[in-house]
Amino acid sequence: MIKTMEWRGNILVLLDQKKLPNVIDFIACYDYRRVAEAIRTMEVRGAPAIGAAAAFAMVLGYKEIRMHGLSGTDVLKKLEEIKRELIDTRPTAVNLAWAVNKIWNAAVNANVNKTIDAVDFLENIAIKIYEDDISNNIKIGHFGAELLPSNATILTHCNAGALATCGWGTALGVVRQGYADGKIKMVYADETRPLLQGARLTAWELEQDDIPVTLITDNMAAWTMKTKKIKAVIVGADRIALNGDVANKIGTYGVALAANALNIPFYVAAATGTFDFKMTSGISIPIEERDGDEVRTFHGQPTSVDNVPVFNPGFDVTPHELITGIITEYGVLTEPYEDMIRQLARKMRRSSND
Ligand code: MRU
Repeated sequence: MIKTMEWRGNILVLLDQKKLPNVIDFIACYDYRRVAEAIRTMEVRGAPAIGAAAAFAMVLGYKEIRMHGLSGTDVLKKLEEIKRELIDTRPTAVNLAWAVNKIWNAAVNANVNKTIDAVDFLENIAIKIYEDDISNNIKIGHFGAELLPSNATILTHCNAGALATCGWGTALGVVRQGYADGKIKMVYADETRPLLQGARLTAWELEQDDIPVTLITDNMAAWTMKTKKIKAVIVGADRIALNGDVANKIGTYGVALAANALNIPFYVAAATGTFDFKMTSGISIPIEERDGDEVRTFHGQPTSVDNVPVFNPGFDVTPHELITGIITEYGVLTEPYEDMIRQLARKMRRSSND
């Protein structure tokens, strides 16, 4: 399985996901600005991957501040600017703010306690965010695979795989484990217009691992569910509100509606870094709106009238009523989601105190 990123102490090396699947290329980020650019332009994408990349960017930023000889509150003032710049790169996925704030809080504590080797301290936290993401995804994979019947045909949207995370994947982590357990016959991947994360990334990632995959366009999803006897839909998430509403790649909501109409279980797979415990419902989740040219063109070629007005939201929100279960590293949440998510928050607090 190819790595999405590699931390080399003073450099973060990112797999350039914009060039996949035709070209495998890497970007060496020597400073936080280059990481911010990679997140903004989606050279690195997927909620957990941008969270981890941003955590390493904070470490690069902190090192730069210290090299310029700043100390005390000046360090935190500058680091706060970097934190803001990183959080502003993409608004919907909460993992970004979650990871950046972990480094920020550690820097504030280090400053208060006058920790001398704060660089190592912050670096270790970023490495832990990266490593925990992989081990959480493996747990998600096990919990999710238990939900699948044998000989299952699965449908997924966008790319919630190894490429969208630090490794293994959330929705595709369930697929990987399900396939290893001999439960998966075929995965149908929505191409995911306009940026084709399904066609370019999910199809490629599954082929690399010899997991059977069939590509469909987004408007084929409902008919495929019906005629190919899809047994479960599994998607990732960019932000999960306290009531269980889920923001994910645009098109997810439509897939959930179709799955519900056809009585097909609709699962969301996400680690706890994707939960926004302070957001009471999905209605308040900020939805990224992207450049209209992504819709007016295909592979750089115009496909519509010049300058036709375009609505191009990057994400949508699936209401919790349509979700059969949310698969986390702690287990599977079901209705009533708000109670289950509050319980999850308590479990997380307990395990962080252990
Ligand atoms: O715009 P993207 O490609 O960053 O969107 C990615 C998704 O919507 C994924 O489904 C989500 O981040 C979950 S990835 C484990």
